[in-house]
Formats: sequence, C-alpha cells, structure tokens
Amino acid sequence: MKRVTLTRFLIDEQYNRSAVPADLRLLIEVVSRAIKAISINVGKGALAGILGEHAAAAGDASVNVQGEAQKKLDVIANEILLEANEWGGHLAAMASEEMEGPHAIPHRYPKGEYLLLFDPLDGSSNIDVNVSVGTIFSVLKCPEGAEPNRQPTEKDFLQPGSKQLCAGFAVYGPSTLLVLTLGSGVHAFTLDRELGSFVLTHENIRIPEDTKEFAINMSNMRFWEPPVKRYVEEMLAGKTGPLGKDYNMRWIASMVADVFRILTRGGIFMYPRDNKDPSKPGRLRLMYEANPMAMIVEQAGGAATTGRERILDVQPTGLHQRVAVILGSKNEVDRVTGYHS
Ligand code: F6P
Repeated sequence: MKRVTLTRFLIDEQYNRSAVPADLRLLIEVVSRAIKAISINVGKGALAGILGEHAAAAGDASVNVQGEAQKKLDVIANEILLEANEWGGHLAAMASEEMEGPHAIPHRYPKGEYLLLFDPLDGSSNIDVNVSVGTIFSVLKCPEGAEPNRQPTEKDFLQPGSKQLCAGFAVYGPSTLLVLTLGSGVHAFTLDRELGSFVLTHENIRIPEDTKEFAINMSNMRFWEPPVKRYVEEMLAGKTGPLGKDYNMRWIASMVADVFRILTRGGIFMYPRDNKDPSKPGRLRLMYEANPMAMIVEQAGGAATTGRERILDVQPTGLHQRVAVILGSKNEVDRVTGYHS
C-alpha cells in the first residue's frame, strides 16, 4: 500500500482535491503535532498520574466556563494546543471550550489571518474508565477589517459554521485517528506510532443514506420534545412499527467515537433539545462540537440539523452557546427533522 502521510496529502491536490493555501496547510500540521502530543499523554493514563480531576489552587476540583468539573487531561490537552499554536505564526487568535474568552497570540510571536477553535478533550467523562476520547477543532478566517495590532474579540469568532474553512477531530482509541475536511470530502488518517506520522487510511469517506442504528442518551427520554420521542418510539417498535425495520442502539458518550462510527457504517446521533434545564437549549456546544462535526458529516454526504434548522446556518450569539444536534445518515436526519415542522 502506498503510504500517503498527512504532509503529502495536504500538499498534493491528487489527494486533497483542493488547493490548500500554504499557511492553512502549516496550521493543520501544527494542530496535528499537538494531537500527537495529546495522544501520548492519553496513552500513558494512570502511569503518568494524569487521570482524575484537576485540583484548583484551594484543593477543590476546578470547574471550567461550562460549569463542569475539569479533568487533569482537559487542562493538559488545552495547554498543549495553546502552546503549539501560539508561535505557529498562522493565527490571529484561538478559542477553547475550556476558556471563557478568546486567547490572544502573545505580541512576541508572528500572527496570521486564521482563528482556531477547539474542544481539547471531548468525552472527558470517559477518560478514567479507559474509553475513547478525542479533540475537535475548526478554522475560520478572521473577518476583514481586523487591524494588525487589534486583538480579535469574541465577535470575530461568531460566524456561522458554513464559514468554516476546515474542520477535524481526533479519536484517541485503540488507534489514534485524525479525521479531516477542507471542504471537499472527508478523509481519515491513522497515527503510525513508531514513525510518528499520520497516514491516510480512509479516503473520501461516505455515510450511507439509510441506517438501522441510532445513538442517543435514552435516560433523558422523559425530557425530550414530542418529535424526538415519536421518532425514537417508532425505531423501538422495529419491524412491525411504522419504520418497518429493527434498529440497533449504541451510545459511547464520546461524540468523537460516536461520529467516527457513523462515518464508518452509518447511523444517526442525537443530543436533542430537552427541558431538563430550560436555560440550556441543548447540551453540545455550537462552536466547538456541533459546527465542526456538522461540516464533516455534510462533507461525507450526511446531514446535520438542530431539528429546526441546518446546524451550519445557525448564527452564533455566544462562544459557548449550546444547541440541539441531530446528525448522520441523511434519510433518517431528514425524517426526524421533518417531524419538527
Ligand atoms: O460534552 C460532550 C460529551 O461528552 C459528548 O462527547 C458526548 O456525546 C456527550 O457529552 C455525552 O453526554 P451524556 O453524558 O449526557 O451522555
């Protein structure tokens, strides 16, 4: 098998199907290096004493901007990404799920025209139980008019997902995978741990339009809205129900792993709007989870909506905004989205 590394893929239009600007290519290389470093840390697990909760100065578990307990690895992964990208020279600023506001590039480093957004360690409740976790990221252009000496603000990041130039995620599982789209198809790379390089292993991934597999946290059923309840009840009814087929269910509780399964063999993933906490119209974050995953899923021939609208069309109002997410095999996503109208 011919080995196509990430570096070669990004340079060679035969593989990436688009002319990738040099600074975007180099930015992706920097992100992929950070992902390798996170993968090494995740792999060490208990041996490196990095499992469990991050202790704040007072000794209590620290809490992130989302009000969730931070794991040690959440903090380590965030620091690795910040450190690697600060001096890369391609960024105007970064935003992370773990930090309240945008992270400025220190004055002593060169700056570029891109904005990088990331969820450093997605699925972190799975770290301590040795189940796959991952990193999700996307790239936007800093809006025109940003003067060279002006630090980008939150407003610069609030662009709909359709403006993303690139989106990707890593899965730290039995193998470490990097899934990437630059707006012309979706490709996945497997980390060759001996050589330390990502090798193209899944070219032009396509999600089957139909599926018999769904992913949802069923324990929230009593909080869902009627359209999602109806759809899940119909799936549970199986062959003798209105959908006429038996469904299987999977829920890993790491979005990266659930989405990679859907990219591999189809399926539908739902974290719908519910009335558990009326202040949160969904659990997942628009800027760090929903938008990058929606771009990847659409680029692989699937669909991604909030139930009410296409995720990539949502105009963000805040860096940490939450949304309902329904994504995966197109015909099933269209069906449940239709039940909302
Ligand atoms: O916060 C993100 C996340 O960990 C996703 O990766 C995952 O799909 C979801 O939350 C799991 O939520 P729950 O613990 O409610 O099943």
